[in-house]
Amino acid sequence: MKKIKILAILFLFMYGCESALNTGSGSLTPSYNTDETLRQIAEEKGIYVGAAVADTPLFSKNEPYSNVFVKEFNMMVCENEMKFEYLQTSSNNFYWTIADRMVNVALANNMKIRGHTLLWHSQSGWASNVNNPAALSNILSNHIFTVMKRYSNKINYWDVVNEAIEVNNALSNSSNFYDHLRKSFWWTNLGSNYVEYAFQLARAADPTAKLFYNDYGIEAYNTKALYTYLLVSNLKAKGLIDGVGFQMHIDTNFKPFQNGFASNLKRFSDLGLELHITEMDVRIPIPANYTSYSQQANTYREVISTALSNSNVTAIVFWGFTDKYSWVPGFFTNYGDALLFDKNYQRKQSYNAVMEVLKNK
Ligand code: XIL
Repeated sequence: MKKIKILAILFLFMYGCESALNTGSGSLTPSYNTDETLRQIAEEKGIYVGAAVADTPLFSKNEPYSNVFVKEFNMMVCENEMKFEYLQTSSNNFYWTIADRMVNVALANNMKIRGHTLLWHSQSGWASNVNNPAALSNILSNHIFTVMKRYSNKINYWDVVNEAIEVNNALSNSSNFYDHLRKSFWWTNLGSNYVEYAFQLARAADPTAKLFYNDYGIEAYNTKALYTYLLVSNLKAKGLIDGVGFQMHIDTNFKPFQNGFASNLKRFSDLGLELHITEMDVRIPIPANYTSYSQQANTYREVISTALSNSNVTAIVFWGFTDKYSWVPGFFTNYGDALLFDKNYQRKQSYNAVMEVLKNK
């Protein structure tokens, strides 16, 4: 009897190890029907689950990228293709071909679209060399009106301004958000009201679109989040903003509870703003292993369940979906594998964690 028990335990142990080894990035036995997709569950729960996509793989016939994307997600954002340098290639020359065809994929598949982004210090092409306040003011106005009008009724959410808060440590005593605006070429030319100006233009260009401020490193209850809160409070009091995007580019050290994520979200939702997680990825050191994939899955689970317990959080968007195409390895040395699907489009533990959280909502 004892022998049988020992053998059984040994067998279970070996079997456990083997499946752990085999699965690599993949899953423990999932607790859901594997025919189900994130999109189906999100739709049952009335939320959006989205991903940033890139034009080239989306239109490639050689891999399952677009199939997986439209089955699993109900919200699209272009990873790069709607940034200033892509849309307005030279003064008043707009290039629509790629953005249009991406928009059409989303609409044909009943997806919502997040437009990203109208004003940013980066990827702004020729505009960033303009050193003339009146000229730059016209450029911004022309850009926002032209782009938003083209996609009116198609793009429901716009990141009007991206990453405008930069904590100025020399003025760490000042809680005036104007002291903590990024000193980009927009600021140099247009002055401290450039954020508000952009939102005024966006409101006028498409009164039906939901206007968002989007930033990174504002997830925790920290100083940058405070200045962001003050900035958006001011915009909200003037009726110029509808929501805030928390990018959520994190690693496994981000702990929602210890970092005050829920209380931070609450101060924003108390303003009456809609909240989106806009660019989530959880980078891990590469090469990754079973343990680091599990830790990553836990981080996804904890962050998303905390986010969804705030009823103003209406969308969870990932910055890509397959580890085959992700900005992480190019921007964070020795990190990668940050997403929900591995390079072969197999669901990872992180995928299962997200699925479970959605199901429990
Ligand atoms: C990144 C893209 O993923 C890269 O392909 C590109 O080279 C640089 O920009 N915050 C943002 C996104 O708001 O637009 C950035 O996207 C990632 C950080």
